Amino acid sequence: MAWLKICDAESIPRLGSTIVKKKELEIGIFRNSNDEYFALNNHCPHKGGPLSQGIVFENFVACPLHNWKINLVTGEAEQPDEGKTECFKIKVEDKFLYIEID
Ligand code: FES
Repeated sequence: MAWLKICDAESIPRLGSTIVKKKELEIGIFRNSNDEYFALNNHCPHKGGPLSQGIVFENFVACPLHNWKINLVTGEAEQPDEGKTECFKIKVEDKFLYIEID
């Protein structure tokens, strides 16, 4: 595992997101209203919707396709929906975002 430098943390607006592509992997990077950052596999556990195009609120993102609420901390869908997308460790260091991946 290694830390991959992503971007300037401030380049992602509050309640916004961006996407990082690493080989076949797409990772959504999210910032909530408390300036906390999260990194999830960009594909919704329901039918693969692009989570980075969803609406961020609190510690969740609402998938743009069918509105499942995905927990940004755990990657799990909120009940009554079921499913989970992969989460990645993320950190801010010297104002830059890093994610931990293979
Ligand atoms: S693909 Fe995300 S809710 Fe259906």
